Amino acid sequence: MIRALVSPLDWAGASGEFDMTEARSFVPAAGRDWLLPFYDPLLRLLGEERIKETLIEAADIRPGQRVLDLGCGTGTLALMIRERCPEAEVIGLDPDPKALAIARSKAERAGAAVEWRQGFADDLPFEDGSFDRVVSSLVFHHLPPDVVRAALPELRRVLEPGGSVWVLDLSHGGTHGLHGLLARFASHQHGDEDVAGQLPTLMEGAGLLAAEARPCRRTFMGPLVLTHAQAPG
Ligand SMILES: C[S@@+](CC[C@H](N)C(=O)[O-])C[C@H]1O[C@@H](n2cnc3c(N)ncnc32)[C@H](O)[C@@H]1O
Repeated sequence: MIRALVSPLDWAGASGEFDMTEARSFVPAAGRDWLLPFYDPLLRLLGEERIKETLIEAADIRPGQRVLDLGCGTGTLALMIRERCPEAEVIGLDPDPKALAIARSKAERAGAAVEWRQGFADDLPFEDGSFDRVVSSLVFHHLPPDVVRAALPELRRVLEPGGSVWVLDLSHGGTHGLHGLLARFASHQHGDEDVAGQLPTLMEGAGLLAAEARPCRRTFMGPLVLTHAQAPG
C-alpha cells in the first residue's frame, strides 16, 4: 500500500544531478527529508490540482512567455503550466536536489520540457528581466522573514518590466488546518506566522506595484491567500 503511494523514483544519486557544493539549510517540501516520498500523494489527496489551477488561471500565462516556478518542489505546478500553456517556457527552481530529482523524473514520464534549476529565492541564478511571470505555491511560509525580505527584490529584478508575480500560500504561516497539524507532527520550523498578510506591503517595499492579496480557498490544508503584484513597466 505504502509502496503504491510513493513516487517511483530511483533515489540512488538523486542529489548527484544538482550542484551540492553550496550547502545551506532550508525547510524541505514535507518538512523532513524522509517524508518527501509522501508529499505528492498527500497533496493529491488534499486537492492540489484545484488549488494550483486557481493560481494558473489568475496568472494568465500566454504563449511565448517565460515563467519561473519559485520553490517548485516536486514540480507539479510547473508541469501543470506546461500542460495548460504548452507554448510557454517554464523553469522550476528549488534548493532541494531530492525534490528536483522527483520533478525531473515526473517531467520525463510526461514528456514535458521544463528546465529544473537548483537555487534559493533570495539569490536567483537568472539575469535581470528574465521572466514574464513568477509563480509560487505553498513556499513563502517555509521561508524565514529575512529570506522573504531578500527574495522580493530578487523577484522584481528577474521580472520583465510589466511582468507579474503570483504567490499562493497558506494564511497564518500554515499554522491552521491539517497543514498546521502535519507541521507539528514533522516538527518543522516555519517562517513568520503572518507572512501572507505582510506580503503586499513587503512587495511594494521591494518596488513592485499594485500588490494585492485576496483570500482564495479554504482547503483541508488551511485557508489560502493569493497575492500578486506587478513589476514597474
Ligand atoms: C511545501 S513545498 C511547495 C512545493 C511546490 N511549490 C508545491 O506547491 O507543491 C515548499 C518548497 O519550498 C522550497 N524552499 C524552501 N526554502 C526555499 C528557499 N529559500 N528558496 C526557494 N525555495 C525554497 C522547499 O524546498 C520546498 O520544495
